[in-house]
Amino acid sequence: MKGRLQMAQAIQSRGPVTGTAVAPKRRRRFFLSDLYSTAVGKKYVMAITGIMLLGFVFAHMVGNLKMYLGAEDFNHYAEFLRELLVPILPRTVALWLLRFGLIAAVLLHIHAAYSLTVMNRKARSVKYQSARDYQVASFASRTMRATGLIVALFVIWHLADLTWGTVNAVGGDGTFVRGDAYGNVVRSFERVPVAVFYILANIALGVHLFHGVWSLFQSMGWSNPRFNKWRRYLAIGFATIIVVGNVSFPIAVLAGIVGE
Ligand code: HEM
Repeated sequence: MKGRLQMAQAIQSRGPVTGTAVAPKRRRRFFLSDLYSTAVGKKYVMAITGIMLLGFVFAHMVGNLKMYLGAEDFNHYAEFLRELLVPILPRTVALWLLRFGLIAAVLLHIHAAYSLTVMNRKARSVKYQSARDYQVASFASRTMRATGLIVALFVIWHLADLTWGTVNAVGGDGTFVRGDAYGNVVRSFERVPVAVFYILANIALGVHLFHGVWSLFQSMGWSNPRFNKWRRYLAIGFATIIVVGNVSFPIAVLAGIVGE
């Protein structure tokens, strides 16, 4: 027994026999960052952060439906978000925690999309020579980067418009009034070019959501040809609900259904 142990120790301590292939020493990394360095890991991150963002757009659209109940209900809802978990937490703390989660999800989603694109480009330095690739891929999948960029630019405008108020009065006679979310929305959408921009951006969001919902099943490894029909219905259904809900708000303001 003792002899065997000594032999094992001797084998371990001696260097490799000359000519033996030795794997390069890899720096030990936390397993999550190891996973994120692979294409599969980045796809998981895209899918998980995507699910968080889907939850946000759905909750935000449903919350905005309060607009149809009038100014008091809508502003009460906006105030409720600031009062979330009071008095367990001070006012706006829970909202800020949600905002940090949302910001982290957006940054990770964009980073994973960007680095997957770089990885794909490196893997295929010579472009496809035929148009076949384009015929197979759907319009939504080919335009993910473009629609993603439109949504990101839209969100920046939207924050400047309805959260910070810096562009709410631009091009209109309205002013931004803190605490009057309803009035701010109405004054914003009364400007026709802004209403049209909201409508177009939300259609781009719908195309992005359609392909996003469809492909997250693939990324998470939940795909099976038997369920493809249901996967497609879910993607179409979700994207349609969000687009119809969101596009209805600027239309309702322009049509005078929602107003001050
Ligand atoms: C026409 C549709 C939309 C309407 C009427 C609307 C309305 C609003 C309003 C009134 C606020 C300010 C809430 C407050 O300060 O209490 C807000 C904030 C926000 N909206 Fe929208 N929104 C719409 C679509 C979207 C879409 C499509 C996205 C994302 C893709 C989005 C992302 C955000 C974000 C990130 C905030 C900031 C939330 C916060 O800081 O608490 N919105 N929206």
